[in-house]
Amino acid sequence: MGKDVIVACDFSSGPAVYSFLDKFQGERKPFVKIGMELYYAEGPDIVRQIKARGHKIFLDLKLHDIPNTVKKAMAVLSGLDVDICNLHAAGTVAMMEAALEGLTRPDGTRPLLIAVTQLTSTDQQSMERDLLIREPLDRVVMHYAANAKRAGLDGVVCSPLEAEKVHALCGRDFLTVTPGVRFAGGDIGDQRRVTTPAQAKHIGSDYIVVGRPITAAEDPVAAYERCVAEFVD
Ligand code: C5P
Repeated sequence: MGKDVIVACDFSSGPAVYSFLDKFQGERKPFVKIGMELYYAEGPDIVRQIKARGHKIFLDLKLHDIPNTVKKAMAVLSGLDVDICNLHAAGTVAMMEAALEGLTRPDGTRPLLIAVTQLTSTDQQSMERDLLIREPLDRVVMHYAANAKRAGLDGVVCSPLEAEKVHALCGRDFLTVTPGVRFAGGDIGDQRRVTTPAQAKHIGSDYIVVGRPITAAEDPVAAYERCVAEFVD
């Protein structure tokens, strides 16, 4: 898969996401991210419905449990035929290996599997105070990325600002999927370490995940096309 813009469809119901996706009548169907909010509200059928409309899907459920449970859950998700799914690297290398095993179908095919390193909502202070991890945050992110690579995963979710370092450590083919994207001069909201789509492209992100700059725009299709023009074209 080449570079693409993934639209974070953070809506709380099926009708809300369908009326949003109905606006996109052009040739290019947006790659859609389904997160916990929508999935827990609507269940697995929301994935089938959006897939049936012709969209690629990143199912962002961030699994984190004992290896056996994650393996079995991944086997279920694998039947939904999504393109990318994910888990927390903090679940350990053994959990990530089990996840990959569960995700792989009898014919050897599977969705791409990527790991969340440290959430962008976690900062150095909360990591030290709450998690008792005293290493520098960027070192933790790189260590978790290396663990994901060692477990055989396809990439990580990280800040666009970390994408270059992750590629240097784990190889150019190891995917970097990066939220925290804002247009120049746009409202950054609760995101902290942001780049524009053009900067993310320059740094080497493989996929940008963009939510509110598109979903809350006056003209979401124009905002999506602007992202594509800056990041992909
Ligand atoms: O609206 P916005 O562009 O900030 O949306 C970013 C999306 O990426 C949200 O769905 C958020 O949950 C997700 N995300 C993130 N930071 C991470 C992992 C996921 O912002 N580290």
